[in-house]
Amino acid sequence: MVNGEQVHRSPFTIHKIMELIDGKAVAAQIKSEIAEEVKQILAAGGKRPHLAAILVGHDGGSETYVASKVKTCDEIGFQSTLIRYEDDVTEETLLNRVNELNNDPGIDGFIVQLPLPKHISEQKVIETIDYRKDVDGFHPVNAGRMAIGLPCFVSATPAGIVELLRRYRIETSGKHCVVLGRSNIVGKPVASLLMQKSNPGDCTVTVCHSRTKDIRKYCLDADIIIAALGSPGFLKADMVKEGAVVIDVGTTRVPSAQTKSGFKLKGDVEFDEVAPKCSYITPVPGGVGPMTIVSLMKNTLLAAQKGLGG
Ligand code: GUN
Repeated sequence: MVNGEQVHRSPFTIHKIMELIDGKAVAAQIKSEIAEEVKQILAAGGKRPHLAAILVGHDGGSETYVASKVKTCDEIGFQSTLIRYEDDVTEETLLNRVNELNNDPGIDGFIVQLPLPKHISEQKVIETIDYRKDVDGFHPVNAGRMAIGLPCFVSATPAGIVELLRRYRIETSGKHCVVLGRSNIVGKPVASLLMQKSNPGDCTVTVCHSRTKDIRKYCLDADIIIAALGSPGFLKADMVKEGAVVIDVGTTRVPSAQTKSGFKLKGDVEFDEVAPKCSYITPVPGGVGPMTIVSLMKNTLLAAQKGLGG
């Protein structure tokens, strides 16, 4: 009885109808917000934010990513510079170029697209980048500052995921978040961000990886699953609880007869069977991917505004 009225309770739990998280639409909105800020900087007599990208070799995925980074710069009014080297470039040449970019006052931020050829130490390259221009957030100073909640460049994919949770007002406080994957680029930083005392954040986080026993057990208990293993279709319906939020970070190229390029992007989630169980889910493509690029642009804007250390 409530206020003297009879209340009929259903024996079934009613779950929210599944909502697709539209990363493309959110990214478009953020791009227009950044473009507006650029206009204001220019109107106040400031200079255009300038992002440089170093691309080594001709890896198909890297070519595509770097091309969309350059295109996004054009769209939002940033200046961009693409620096290319062949696969056989020496580590010394690359490190010298990184140092030149560190010392070039015209460049606000820059990235070195990974992976690099085996004869070049990625760690050495990352550590040579001035952390104040490290808009990828890969330098140990940025990674460390992020881990303890200090101002820093947060790497783009984790920042994009958190922004999607924020813009869709998805409750994270007190939720159990299972992160699949422990890479330095996604798994570790997103786990760190979501456990922080913040909103989004305040999650209880479990990180699962290739050595975890019985991943299904952890996933079935998760309110939020972030799948970042790079294993196409890994997460199946029988691993997901009703009403879970599923964020798919996977972007593996798989052969496809239906596309001109001969491949399509497949996520870590078996979307068709998992989606009906979810309260929210990101598609691939069109989910996390577009957010990654706008997060990089946001970091570049921050670098141009000398928001870190300058
Ligand atoms: N390779 C895959 N993702 C990334 C990224 O976010 N930044 C760079 N520099 N390389 C990558």
